Amino acid sequence: MSSSSLIIIHFFILSLSLFSLSSVSPSSQPHPFILPIRKDPSTNLFYTSLGIGTPRTDFNLVIDLGGENLWYDCDAHYNSSSYTPIQCGSKQCPEIGCTGCNGPFKPGCTNNTCPSPALNSLAKFIFGGGLGQDFIFISQNKVSGLLSSCIDTDSFPSFTGNDSALNGLPKNTKGIVGLSRSNLSLPKQLALKNNLPHKFSLCLPSSNKQGFTNLLVRSDEFSKFVQTTPLFVNPFSTGPVSVKGVSSNEYFIDVKAIKIDGHVLNLKPSLLSIDKKGNGGTKISTITPFTELHTSVYKPFIRDFLKKASDRKVKRVSSVAPFEACFDSTSIRNSLPRIDLVLQKGAQWTIHETNLVVNVKKNVACLGIVDGGTESRMSFTKPSIVLGGHQLVDNLLVFDLSSSKLSFSSSLLVHNASCS
Ligand SMILES: *[C@@H]1O[C@H](CO)[C@@H](O)[C@H](O)[C@H]1NC(C)=O
Ligand SMILES: *[C@@H]1O[C@H](CO)[C@@H](O)[C@H](O)[C@H]1NC(C)=O
Ligand SMILES: *[C@@H]1O[C@H](CO)[C@@H](O)[C@H](O)[C@H]1NC(C)=O
Ligand SMILES: *[C@@H]1O[C@H](CO)[C@@H](O)[C@H](O)[C@H]1NC(C)=O
Ligand SMILES: *[C@@H]1O[C@H](CO)[C@@H](O)[C@H](O)[C@H]1NC(C)=O
Repeated sequence: MSSSSLIIIHFFILSLSLFSLSSVSPSSQPHPFILPIRKDPSTNLFYTSLGIGTPRTDFNLVIDLGGENLWYDCDAHYNSSSYTPIQCGSKQCPEIGCTGCNGPFKPGCTNNTCPSPALNSLAKFIFGGGLGQDFIFISQNKVSGLLSSCIDTDSFPSFTGNDSALNGLPKNTKGIVGLSRSNLSLPKQLALKNNLPHKFSLCLPSSNKQGFTNLLVRSDEFSKFVQTTPLFVNPFSTGPVSVKGVSSNEYFIDVKAIKIDGHVLNLKPSLLSIDKKGNGGTKISTITPFTELHTSVYKPFIRDFLKKASDRKVKRVSSVAPFEACFDSTSIRNSLPRIDLVLQKGAQWTIHETNLVVNVKKNVACLGIVDGGTESRMSFTKPSIVLGGHQLVDNLLVFDLSSSKLSFSSSLLVHNASCS
């Protein structure tokens, strides 16, 4: 009797001490990798803030869902003592070639360094930086061993002020965090490092609010409200460099049809699918502020939309660039035609009115979907639809690369929730 009660007491003490151990040292369990997201009102782009290096320096970086890597401006004033350049030809170096520098050693000025581009689809040129390793601070995690690209913009002479690697980005930002399929994207690196599936969530905020991206989603915590649809790989590059046989790292979904007020827009189905050269398809992009439709899709779309709006007695007013369909906002309260994207297996992405309308000035609201033209500026291929930032606001998206699925909520506002 006594010995068995001793065992029980002993077990009780042991489990108590285990409990207190785990409650005093929560750091043994890594924190979630959540980054806050804010919207820049002048560019309508989204950015986050994270820390890099020693001493820790905080950088505001633009969120680019299709971005290849994390790159930041390690300008003339920046020097981190924990920065390690990656050598040319090493296992970690995916590129051929080598970069060097004549100045004193600092991030952005090192010899025998693996080249790594600082890609910005809003810039005029492709800028080359160096691949390096440094501490990166995400939520309360100090992570080592992540690769990023640093580029000293002060070392590139500017001719017009429009030829910087930072061109077109919000004034307070200093680079880009890429979330693409690439091996160098932040979610992919974190997934590999933690031996977890490559899966992340993205929730873009409306102005003045804060959204988030969780770079490493561990479970299915988002099953409420969401539908899923397959993610597709475009077998052709969609970036500024086209290499034969190298597929796109961006995220495509298969939009089969567009519905306006429940009626399927009359389009040749081939206009929406990816063709033999990599043109077409529907890409999701956070670096495109407003959804862009290829001209051959836009023309019938806007004609039908305006017709349905007029049937609903919404009062049209003069266009305000870049938007064509603008209305007297007092006449549109909850009565704009509804738009649904029809996906595979009956899934449907409804674009809620707050994601359609852009308030451009007093009493004028425009449909935030624009004519994307027939050619891309920084790519050899052109999608049919680029689903842009304004249409993604307050929509929870979960990109699961291990099962190649996108889960999406449509507007959370319908459920009295938001990305904030
Ligand atoms: C940067 O810091 C390193 C030491 O961490 C030092 O050796 C180097 O000279 C510094 N470079 C510049 C340009 O100040
Ligand atoms: C790189 O090598 C050149 C030539 O050997 C040298 O002049 C320069 O100081 C080196 N730069 C750095 C950052 O070590
Ligand atoms: C930059 O480009 C914009 C649009 O292309 C143009 O209006 C502006 O004048 C340019 N700025 C400079 C400094 O060249
Ligand atoms: C990405 O990494 C995997 C494994 O680490 C490797 O097999 C693959 O070739 C890499 N892809 C590219 C495009 O470098
Ligand atoms: C959302 O909130 C409003 C007001 O707080 C309430 O009337 C409505 O029923 C709620 N809707 C849902 C779906 O919970």
